[in-house]
Amino acid sequence: MLPLRLHLPAHRGLRLLSLFTRFGSRQTVAFSVESKVRSVAMASYSTAAADASRRLLFRQLFEKESSTYTYLLADMGHPEKPAVLIDPVDKTVDRDLSLIRDLGVKLIYAMNTHVHADHVTGTGIIKVKVPGVQSVISKASNAKADHLIEQGDKINFGNLYLEVRATPGHTLGCVTYVTGDGLNQPNPRLAFTGDAVLIRGCGRTDFQGGSSRQLYQSVHSQIFTLPKETLIYPAHDYKGFTVSTVGEEMLYNPRLTKDEETFKSIMENLKLAYPKMIDVAVPANMACGLQDVAVKAEAASS
Ligand SMILES: [Fe+2]
Repeated sequence: MLPLRLHLPAHRGLRLLSLFTRFGSRQTVAFSVESKVRSVAMASYSTAAADASRRLLFRQLFEKESSTYTYLLADMGHPEKPAVLIDPVDKTVDRDLSLIRDLGVKLIYAMNTHVHADHVTGTGIIKVKVPGVQSVISKASNAKADHLIEQGDKINFGNLYLEVRATPGHTLGCVTYVTGDGLNQPNPRLAFTGDAVLIRGCGRTDFQGGSSRQLYQSVHSQIFTLPKETLIYPAHDYKGFTVSTVGEEMLYNPRLTKDEETFKSIMENLKLAYPKMIDVAVPANMACGLQDVAVKAEAASS
């Protein structure tokens, strides 16, 4: 329970209630005498939820050549302001690190939702430029990283965390990172779906161990079971969308709202071109984006 302190005397029929949350922040709310008990209970709950959401610093960043989103999250309520970066791109590493410096947060993890085929990850360059940062990717991806994560793992940054949900199908190692569940975590939750769910779409399933059947099952069991208000932040968008929700995609996603057989048939008949970056990006991304020593040296000297 949150410690409460009541300030007296009442002022013009209203009393002021100060809430001291467990994070040390203080909010003052006015409430009428008659509805005091009910208001106290509601204020306690909403203040804790709002405080958890406020302490999350969240930025959505865009790389235009591959239409990739990179996400920065930090716990601003923690003295060290620990931060994570999801799906950084090699071409925008300097922009991302400059923002991180400006905001005064401490990057601890550079994470990927999967081995990307359309761009080279910025993870390896970040590790060279910011010693101490650790890379994260799924064990199932067979890629190199400091931390190989699996279904159910928790990635802590300060007092916030990301839950790992295995969502294979676009690639065999895809995961979705979901912000924590609980009163002291952001509400609504945020789900970083990679290419498993795009806004009104999904990633292709014809390369990198992809499987339309597996993708369908992953999304329906791991993403569409989240609360409907959960925010969906994908790895890409090609139409200018920035965010969706679980409820919205369950209603309007033109592929994933279909039954499994129809979905499979849609995915098998997309007739997409061979991914132009795949032969460069995948080998690089299997090694954290640092495919050779020359790249490492160049990154370190710039
Ligand atoms: Fe992808």
